[in-house]
Amino acid sequence: MAATNKNDVSTIYDRKSELKAFDDTKEGVKGLVDAGITEIPRIFYHPPDEYSIHNTSDSEEEQFSVPVIDLKGLSDPTKRKGIVAAVAEASESWGFFQIVNHGISVDVLEEIKDGVRGFFQQDTAVKKQFYTRDNFSSPFVYNSNFDLYSAPATHWRDSFTWYMITPTPKTEDLPEVCREILVEYSNQVRKLGKLLFELLSEALGLKQSHLNDIDCNEGLLVTGHYYPACPQPELTVGISKHADRTFITVLLQDNVGGLQVLHHNMWIDVNPVPGALVVNIGDFLQLISNDRFKSVEHRVLANHRGPRISVAGFFSTGLLPLGKLYGPIKEILSEDNPPKYRETTLRDYHAYYREKGLDGRSALTHYKL
Ligand code: OGA
Ligand code: NI
Repeated sequence: MAATNKNDVSTIYDRKSELKAFDDTKEGVKGLVDAGITEIPRIFYHPPDEYSIHNTSDSEEEQFSVPVIDLKGLSDPTKRKGIVAAVAEASESWGFFQIVNHGISVDVLEEIKDGVRGFFQQDTAVKKQFYTRDNFSSPFVYNSNFDLYSAPATHWRDSFTWYMITPTPKTEDLPEVCREILVEYSNQVRKLGKLLFELLSEALGLKQSHLNDIDCNEGLLVTGHYYPACPQPELTVGISKHADRTFITVLLQDNVGGLQVLHHNMWIDVNPVPGALVVNIGDFLQLISNDRFKSVEHRVLANHRGPRISVAGFFSTGLLPLGKLYGPIKEILSEDNPPKYRETTLRDYHAYYREKGLDGRSALTHYKL
């Protein structure tokens, strides 16, 4: 760190107590907005970003938009081949793609967004009962900024996470307003995950069941994000630049927009497509694919418009008591393609990622050989 003067020290001190005061309200960012603030507290200030934002012009639209892949016709071998090729290409070059005709109905997608909105907009006293920073105390955790005390700046969003470790939760573990749809949606995402891991296995030239066989589809975490409208969106972000610590993430976003992916050092909008789900490759799949598939950084801008709702399904077994070691998949290694990473357990990786916080650095480099 650069030389500290008195000012720096007092800034750090203030920040800590301001974070604590914010945490203690248990009302998150929504609480600030409900109180009618017109200027955002300084804990939310983010330094300007070094990348430019790509402004789409018509001629470049194709080149600079995240691929949309239609999953219709998977049982036809010729179509399937084409879909697998599209998945491979998108996973290598973008680390992101959107899917349509994925089998989850529009009704279910609408209902889960309503359910997430309903959770955050319900009676504050009821909502507060779920507020905790102890991730193992309950399968359902609500708080604002999982990395509140470790991240360099606070994000303009509140979230809940359901650790879907036990397939059938006790009903009292989940909030009443979204219980039913949360279970339904999560089960459907789990099923879709199995299919996606089959396609990704084929895309890596492995047998169809490979990624499911090594438990990539075990342990789904479902996070509901609530990004309130922000009075000064240029000063903060919804989620700062990060890559996901998953095998894959399946994301549902509403039509507000603001999700951007870093592509050729430019921020590209992941435009909302009605009925689509966004799939992105996470750090673990980059690691086990030995860098063939890319875990790409992304962020969510804050917005005057809101709330924005999104639901992220994180495929990651990190919270299960598994000491299983993951390293680059042997079947894809060769003399020309030696392993680039050391083996690690997901538990270890999660601990490292969490401790590091969303500070803009990749957690993967820590595991490079
Ligand atoms: C995440 C994430 C994007 C969004 O939760 O890791 O990148 O649109 N979310 O909420
Ligand atoms: Ni993410």
